[in-house]
Amino acid sequence: GAPIEVDLAPIQDGQIINVFWRGKLIFVRNRSEKEIKEAQDVKLSELIDPQPDSARVKDGHAKWLVVYGNCTHLGCVPIGHQGQYEGWSCPCHGSLYDTSGRVRRGPAPTNLPVPPYAFQSDTKIRIG
Ligand code: FES
Repeated sequence: GAPIEVDLAPIQDGQIINVFWRGKLIFVRNRSEKEIKEAQDVKLSELIDPQPDSARVKDGHAKWLVVYGNCTHLGCVPIGHQGQYEGWSCPCHGSLYDTSGRVRRGPAPTNLPVPPYAFQSDTKIRIG
């Protein structure tokens, strides 16, 4: 599939939008300051699949989280802004993700993966 461009300008503070690339659902999330801080402050030792938030976002663009939108357990679509960690909650078997898309409660085994993407400008990304 060809790369896609996503215009970030219309995405409000705290909002998550869905886009599709290569037939896969991708979440693009404009994180609030509180959500960024929560993602950055977690100790790696508390994580099921330890990854620092800084490894999941682009340098200088911590507001923007871009992750695949299917639960890493069996592929259901997690609901945003729900669950104890305020990232996503999976309606199928209760996995919880944080504001970095990292799994915080199973059965999902791994974090929501970050697709290949790059910033074209401060308000535009290209996925793929
Ligand atoms: Fe999400 Fe099972 S598919 S918890």
